[in-house]
Formats: sequence, structure tokens, C-alpha cells
Amino acid sequence: MNILVLGAGGQVGFELLRALSPLGELIAPTREQVDLADPDALAGVFRAVRPELIVNGAAWTAVDAAETHRESAFRLNAELPAQLARFAAVAGIPLIHYSTDYVYPGDGDSPWREDSPTGPLSVYGESKLAGDEAVMGSGARHLIFRTCWVYGARGRNFMKTMLQLGQERDALKVVGDQVGAPTPARLIAQVTALAVYRLRLGQGIEGLYHLACRGETSWHGFACEIFRQAARAQVPLRLTDQQVQAIPGSEYPTPARRPGNSRLAVERLEQDLGITLPHWEPQLRLTLREYLGA
Ligand SMILES: NC(=O)c1ccc[n+]([C@@H]2O[C@H](COP(=O)([O-])OP(=O)(O)OC[C@H]3O[C@@H](n4cnc5c(N)ncnc54)[C@H](OP(=O)(O)O)[C@@H]3O)[C@@H](O)[C@H]2O)c1
Repeated sequence: MNILVLGAGGQVGFELLRALSPLGELIAPTREQVDLADPDALAGVFRAVRPELIVNGAAWTAVDAAETHRESAFRLNAELPAQLARFAAVAGIPLIHYSTDYVYPGDGDSPWREDSPTGPLSVYGESKLAGDEAVMGSGARHLIFRTCWVYGARGRNFMKTMLQLGQERDALKVVGDQVGAPTPARLIAQVTALAVYRLRLGQGIEGLYHLACRGETSWHGFACEIFRQAARAQVPLRLTDQQVQAIPGSEYPTPARRPGNSRLAVERLEQDLGITLPHWEPQLRLTLREYLGA
């Protein structure tokens, strides 16, 4: 099976290369080979690769920059998946795509379900929602995994930023009133591989699913757990979790508004794929160990 993987230099994309490798021939053009911002660049890729499955890990993920680069964010997050879905529909092949909790309005404290009303607070969220809607309306066989708070041993992410700040600062303020579940890129790729395996068996699951770790915390809670686990792993830190102060999001203004409630209900995926999603804390331990080479 020829599998076209886009965005393979990203957090999720890199892990897809690992996790999908036993499932087919992976073709993963780099940004230098194919600039996905160019709508014409894909036609040649489709012709050359003749994919039997497309997995799209590419996205514009610079949430704040999207506020001032609306067109670029929409190109990557809305038009690209629409284009992929059109190709998939015509070729009769499935498309796997990733989306975000930022499509939801972020209020309340109940977990969002796949059928909850959307209401993005930012241009990034709007662009991702437009991508989801294009894929869902395309007629292509598709899987969309909405995930949240993605991090890993590679790429730029909250865990790595905290570890760096923890070595430079002796006090830190972190937002305490935004809640979600930190989810490693590696887990997202592993679950994708299970879904691809099922597809190959002809028992594919289809449609929109939430994919996130079990449990919940705030960015402040996540930061404290990073520092506790890092201290246990003998990382030389200038601060302990006791020196991390929780602040409201209103005290940390950013160009893009962030949702307060990023809780994602994951029962649908667990039930349809026959899996139990792990709790975020042990997943942090594994990811940290990988990053530290421990
Ligand atoms: N990160 C999060 O916290 C988060 C949360 C919820 C949902 N998601 C979703 O999860 C998915 C994966 O996110 P991620 O964190 O893995 O993203 P990421 O690390 O930013 O990776 C995005 C990938 O897209 C590629 N890309 C961007 N513009 C491109 C262009 N013009 N041409 C070619 N490639 C281009 C990037 O290439 P380069 O490597 O060359 O830059 C990178 O490989 C996305 O759909 C995202 O919306 C992420």
C-alpha cells in the first residue's frame, strides 16, 4: 500500500513515519520537495505517487501568527485538506486528517463531543474548522482526529519550553484556567496506525473522532508535573514546582484567544477502535524519558 504522508517533519508527522512503517510504502515529501502553500504543487505528487491512502500531518500551527496571516493559515488548514479530500474522493482512497479542540468555543467545563456545536475563537480555529468541513463534505472516505495540547520529544512544544525555562528562571507564571489533556504526538501516530491496520483489514472506522489522553489538567498543572518528573530524572533545574504560580489567561494576553475548556470526550474512538486511551501523566513520563535519552 502506497501511503502519502504530508508534514512528516512535524511533531505528529515524524511519529507517523515510525508508526506507519510496517503498514505500507511511505512516501513523505519534504517542504523543500513540495511546498504545500502552492496549490499547484500537489498535482505532480498525486501523479507520481499514486497513493492508496493519504495521511495529512501538515498544517499551519502558528496559532498567534494566524491572526495576521489569515490567508496562509487558510491555505494550509482549509484549502489543502479540501484539495486532498477531492483527490481522495475521485481516486476512491481514504484520507486521514488531524484537527483541534480550537474549533470549539471553549466555554463551560463539560468535555466536547464530536457532535458538540463548534465556534472557534481564533483564525487558526476557523481555518481548521473550514478544513474539517471540507473533508466531511467531500464524499471521500475519511478519518478526522481532533486532538489537543500536542507535544513530543521533537519540535517546538510546551514541555520543551518549560524544561528550558526551568533551567533559566527561578520563578514562573503559567496559565491555570485553561484545561485540557496533554497528548504526545507519538500516541496520536500509534492510534493512527491502529486505524490504518483496521482499514487494511476492511474494518475501517470512519468519520470524526476525538483523540486525546485521558485525564485533564491546566497548563499550570502540566508545567508543575513536568518539573516534578524532570527533578526525579535529575534534570538540573533552577526552580521546583512550588515556584510556579498559576495565573488567569487574562494576565497572559496573546494575539489569538485560547479556549478555557479544551476537554475532549474520547469514548467514541475508544469504543469504535477497541482501545483504552492512556492517562496523560504516564505518557508524560515516557515522552520525557525519550527526550532526555533516559
Ligand atoms: N500542536 C498542537 O498543540 C496541536 C493541537 C491540536 C491539534 N493539532 C493538529 O495536529 C496536526 C499536527 O500538528 P503538529 O503539532 O504535528 O504540527 P507541526 O509540528 O507544526 O507540523 C506541521 C507540519 O506541516 C508542515 N508544513 C507547514 N507548512 C508547510 C508548507 N507550506 N509546505 C510543506 N509543509 C508544510 C511543517 O513543515 P516544516 O517541518 O518544514 O515546518 C510541519 O512538518 C495539525 O493538523 C494540527 O492542527 C496540533
